[in-house]
Amino acid sequence: MKIGILISGRGSNMSAIVEAVQSGRIPGSEVAVVISDKKSAQGLEKAKERGVEAIVVARKGRTREQHDADIIGELKNRGVEFVCLAGYMRLLSKEFVQAFSNKIINIHPSLLPSFPGLDAQKQAIEYGVKISGCTVHFVDEDLDHGAIITQKSVALSDEDTAESLSAKILQHEHEQYVEALRRIAEGKYEIIGRRVVFSDNFSGS
Ligand code: GAR
Repeated sequence: MKIGILISGRGSNMSAIVEAVQSGRIPGSEVAVVISDKKSAQGLEKAKERGVEAIVVARKGRTREQHDADIIGELKNRGVEFVCLAGYMRLLSKEFVQAFSNKIINIHPSLLPSFPGLDAQKQAIEYGVKISGCTVHFVDEDLDHGAIITQKSVALSDEDTAESLSAKILQHEHEQYVEALRRIAEGKYEIIGRRVVFSDNFSGS
């Protein structure tokens, strides 16, 4: 399975996926390319250090559809079959989602459907929840909305800030993302409506 990873920033989830693939934790897979929509993304260097091709496809004032068409082209040129969004901070167009139907997954730093969108950890702190976490899910045309693959809960303390909560959740994100990808690559699941049902009841938590 040829994987493409989309990033916009730091790239710690991307690095975790690349390392898992390179160490054989996701059998039969290869990371073909890392694509950032931002030239400044720190993750680009991290990908190159790990021997993975890393390119920038900048938006440059084009529409979402035009920008996505460029990214789809780069992915298809390299034979990519499966896409991981790893801190990619742009909503995908309908055309992108359809080009890789049920072959795009994302990680989000909250227990969806709570706190979709930007600054999920800050939203959680401000709402006053006692538990948050992270979610790995398939990507559909709506923001942070597709069928859920795994979730991991994280308890908040009264002292937590958006920064400390982000760090607590991130500790689990890498493991959750790799495990979710491994399970999806294994193929022992069915998507039934909104439910991703694994043959062994795997849920990640
Ligand atoms: C991660 O916390 C990820 O869950 C979040 O951005 C961060 C990226 O960090 N993604 C979203 O909020 C997507 N809606 P990373 O670049 O170090 O992987």
